[in-house]
Amino acid sequence: MINASQSHSLKEMFVFRCSSSFLARSRGLARRLGSCDFLCLHHSSLHHSKKHFHRAMAEEKQPIGGLHFVGRKDELTEAKRSCRTLAGRDVLIIFHQGGFYAIDSYCYHTGGELQSGDIEEIGGKLCIICPNHKFKISLVGGEGLCKAGAPREEPRPPHAPRWYSKGVKQRVHVVTETAGGDIYVRLSEEARWMESDFYQGEKGEEERAKAAAAEEEKKKKKEKKK
Ligand code: FES
Repeated sequence: MINASQSHSLKEMFVFRCSSSFLARSRGLARRLGSCDFLCLHHSSLHHSKKHFHRAMAEEKQPIGGLHFVGRKDELTEAKRSCRTLAGRDVLIIFHQGGFYAIDSYCYHTGGELQSGDIEEIGGKLCIICPNHKFKISLVGGEGLCKAGAPREEPRPPHAPRWYSKGVKQRVHVVTETAGGDIYVRLSEEARWMESDFYQGEKGEEERAKAAAAEEEKKKKKEKKK
């Protein structure tokens, strides 16, 4: 069953996928792949296709929920960003402008550490910006946000590019506070696979290391070209 916010998110995703920049990217990917049976319609890249391929295999690693004590309010408020491993899952707890948020520690894109990401309001949503490639992730819903041109079917002249939701990509968790100032995180019980799941656990650690090595390689190549 799809609730109202999910339905809104799906509609947003559909509009985003009709945008001229998304269609152009998809065409580019199709050219690079040549003939293929499956074109990943998420943020188009071979890496994302690989993540979806691993989706079924990761199903059994979904969070099991449960309430976890993560610290005292004053301690977490002062730290602003705190990392905790809860039931084998690495979670980042953020204190920002009077509110607490809990989100998977590694970015859904290629596993960048979100801990040092800036926080900004983007498209009306409070987002953390991944330090690696500047992907924007909403702290409340875990949506990936992307700026794109107006969808083709919208009346011309085209509107200025705006922020679209790419759907929920990052797993977020619920933070609760007791009257005595203890802070707890309830791990997400959302059963469906999310892209940030790919970078959790032992397998996720390997994938993060691979992504970091590939990034390093890219940097070296760039340096050589200069
Ligand atoms: S790893 Fe976060 S934007 Fe690429």
